Amino acid sequence: MSKEKSINVNVNGKAVELVVPAHRTLLEALRHESFVEIKCGCEKGDCGACAVLLDGEPVDSCLTLAWHVDGCEVTTIKGIGQPGKADPLQEAFIETGAAQCGYCTPGMIVAAKSLLTDNQNPSLAEIKRALGGNLCRCTGYTRIFEAVLLAARKMREEGEAA
Ligand code: FES
Ligand code: FES
Repeated sequence: MSKEKSINVNVNGKAVELVVPAHRTLLEALRHESFVEIKCGCEKGDCGACAVLLDGEPVDSCLTLAWHVDGCEVTTIKGIGQPGKADPLQEAFIETGAAQCGYCTPGMIVAAKSLLTDNQNPSLAEIKRALGGNLCRCTGYTRIFEAVLLAARKMREEGEAA
């Protein structure tokens, strides 16, 4: 029988205690706790649908063991933007039609958020590299790249206006 351990994580600003066996991934543990905004795709690190920010860095939660994130901060798509004030990335995905079926969108925005936190003026090549681990079956990627460029412009304009 698998040994269980209690871990504490902060998810989107909320303290969460998880009791998990050694083999459970962060993806499984958080979806079990109703964080179903984290999408489950390939479960082997190929699609990026399950991406979350772990202490600010993007990771595939399907490749991350829950035991390894004890004491960490996790940000899901729901922790990006606030009620009544969407993140520029979320606005840009809507404006450009970059979310079609939407299954890849949480992971795409998580990966893009990490990029734009570090670099608010990325080139197209930098965007393609940052989203290289995220697959989309619907859009052909062009609108997604447009959305990230638009969001970056919005963030720069907001910064200049502040
Ligand atoms: S579900 Fe994690 S990378 Fe595909
Ligand atoms: S919008 Fe459908 S998979 Fe990307």
